[in-house]
Amino acid sequence: MIKFDASHAFLKEDILSYQDVVNQCHEMLHHKTGRGNDYVGWVDWANTYDREEFARLKAKASELRKICDVLVVCGIGGSYLGARAAIEMINGLYGKDKPEIIFFGNTFSSTYIAQVMEYIKDKEVAVNVISKSGTTTETALAFRLLKQFMEEKYGKQEAANRIVATTDKARGTLKTIALQEGYETFVIPDDIGGRYSVITPVGLFPMAVAGIDVDALMRGLKKASDDLENPDLHYNPAYQYAVARRILEKQGKDVEMLVTYEMQMTMVAEWWKQLFGESEGKEGKGNLPTSGTFSTDLHSLGQFVQEGKKLLYETLLLVDKPTLDVTFPSDEHNLDGMNYLAGKSVDWVNKMACQGTLEAHEVTGQVPNLIITMVDMSAESFGYMCYFFFKACGITCYMLDINPFDQPGVEVYKKNMFRLLGKN
Ligand code: PA5
Repeated sequence: MIKFDASHAFLKEDILSYQDVVNQCHEMLHHKTGRGNDYVGWVDWANTYDREEFARLKAKASELRKICDVLVVCGIGGSYLGARAAIEMINGLYGKDKPEIIFFGNTFSSTYIAQVMEYIKDKEVAVNVISKSGTTTETALAFRLLKQFMEEKYGKQEAANRIVATTDKARGTLKTIALQEGYETFVIPDDIGGRYSVITPVGLFPMAVAGIDVDALMRGLKKASDDLENPDLHYNPAYQYAVARRILEKQGKDVEMLVTYEMQMTMVAEWWKQLFGESEGKEGKGNLPTSGTFSTDLHSLGQFVQEGKKLLYETLLLVDKPTLDVTFPSDEHNLDGMNYLAGKSVDWVNKMACQGTLEAHEVTGQVPNLIITMVDMSAESFGYMCYFFFKACGITCYMLDINPFDQPGVEVYKKNMFRLLGKN
């Protein structure tokens, strides 16, 4: 369901020559012998996930879909980016399906917080608070506001029915609150870290409330875990991508720009940035992940890619089949001179823009391009894509001798902030 093409990347080494090192990294992932091996629960998740919890999750989602206009998802980082990426990619940015999903608990911006509280005031609301640790400050601050709002609006009992907590199975402040208040709870598995958690209730519950076919997503995940189990670089596109990144880094390319040509995939790039940035950016190593939505950003960043400092490579994340298409109309007077496109599909125009840009960046600009092509933007493809990137990320980090599953550097800002806030 995913194709990988490195033929536009000026690779100076053969990807296949990395087979031995890839075999070792594959072994570490699959036999839990590498760094961070407590967090590889995602590798076999398509086979091991809790079916009873999955059914309960779908039932609760369908109950809330009937009674609410808005689901407020309260979480940050790995506890929010995946759900948002999936919902936007699969449903589109202006899908008509209710309820609307609003993301909250991911900022200290008082203006944003006040505007969301005002926006939901007179609507039918449900809440999904998501935090593995249960102590993340952005999320805890927002959830206290939401909890008080819900209890005032609906009374304690109905508020409890409309609040769902996704957290650790046994520990943490959020678990304690959920138990005490009687919220429905879903578990973030111990062995799956935040940025790998979109395939657990962290991502699946908000998606199910948004009307996404989570069974199809899990089918895609399973398909990918079967397809990508073979470490042979002839057949494993995720591993080819992992190796190509390392070769490009050796050739002096320290920045990877993930490029999509679909507006509704902008958040997929944000999710991908966390996955690769937080997994790889440590011990003074790693590529800086950045992103662009083309052709939109060709009118902003395009200049730099074409003629700026040669520090980056692009990874195109393309989609064969658009969710919807538009046929461009003819116009009798043709004052805008656009009749040369009359009768053409707008997706075809998009694909020609992509082809022309690839040629401009690769041939004229000498910017290496890796190309990843997905079939479509369905739930099944999303599940497949997640696993593709998870595996590529694990392997590419192990190739650098990095633990892909921790994030020690994230604590530094928190420590300083707590001191300034007077937290004991
Ligand atoms: O990837 C990560 O681990 C982080 O982005 C976390 O998901 C994020 O900090 C939120 O943490 P928590 O779920 O504990 O509130």
